Amino acid sequence: MKADLSVEIAGIRMKNPVMTAAGTFGTEYAPFVDLNRLGALALKTITLEAREGNPPPRVAETPAGMLNAVGLQNPGVERFVAEILPPLVELDTPLIVSIAGATVDEYGRLAARLETARGIAALEVNISCPNVRAGGIAFGTVPEMAAEVIRTVRANTSRPVIAKLSPNVTDIAAVALAVAKAGADALSLINTVLGTAIDIRTRRPILASVFGGLSGPAVKPIALRAVWQVYKAVRLPIIGMGGITTGADAVEFFLAGATAVAVGTANIVNPKATVDVLQGIEEYLKREGIPDIRQLIGAGHI
Ligand SMILES: Cc1cc2nc3c(=O)[nH]c(=O)nc-3n(C[C@H](O)[C@H](O)[C@H](O)COP(=O)(O)O)c2cc1C
Repeated sequence: MKADLSVEIAGIRMKNPVMTAAGTFGTEYAPFVDLNRLGALALKTITLEAREGNPPPRVAETPAGMLNAVGLQNPGVERFVAEILPPLVELDTPLIVSIAGATVDEYGRLAARLETARGIAALEVNISCPNVRAGGIAFGTVPEMAAEVIRTVRANTSRPVIAKLSPNVTDIAAVALAVAKAGADALSLINTVLGTAIDIRTRRPILASVFGGLSGPAVKPIALRAVWQVYKAVRLPIIGMGGITTGADAVEFFLAGATAVAVGTANIVNPKATVDVLQGIEEYLKREGIPDIRQLIGAGHI
């Protein structure tokens, strides 16, 4: 018998718990992955106006991961709604649209603008991008600021609101509690971990913006720890991400408390990573004789 892989996040029904992580996956993967097989697609963060992102170099390879400082390059909401969204809406896969603003007001206006767009299952609110700052600080690093953004988005949308949290904080559970109180329906964690790399030949930082976000297998223990802590503190569904490359990685996240998982950097190394992770989860459930994926959620807690 095949295990039941379906899960629900904030009212979004997913045929399986494997999603894409924002900014790391798009329709260019369609030749490698049947996009209808995925549980949900989280899209690259969009902003009200088009953004060019940061100057190059903006990515660097690191042992067991990468640094990126893409800086939310995107065509802006109008082109997103006119060009990017329509073909994706035809898929049999829920679409999660990631939004960001330079001010709290921009987050609200963006959410309001998307109200009339068809085919969006939820908004993921990116308060955690290390490359975009307001007043010198990422919104997601201060609980009160994070809550204010979520409250504003909540007031401007009828859709489920997913808050994407930053690991670059002392107490991620405090931020999770603040956004839960402000009306978040689910949580995505984690975004990238702030880091840097230096070229010893030029003796200068490799990234033009000096700092970037570390992702990939190197951050998996940090992400798992965050999921564990937040699962203990807050009763909201969690989408876990950070270094997931295999089905076994994903199972660790379920055991720590994630209801769904997202695959990011692994897609860049292996375009079929999402379906490989899905297959790995299926094989694990079969091998262990577990009939329902939901039995794993939080089951690792002691
Ligand atoms: C090249 C790149 C671009 C990214 N762009 C976004 C983005 O636009 N919005 C966002 O919320 N996260 C973005 N992320 C973060 C990922 O969605 C994810 O949270 C993080 O990379 C951890 O997962 P991973 O280790 O599987 O990549 C980006 C990551 C990478 C590597």
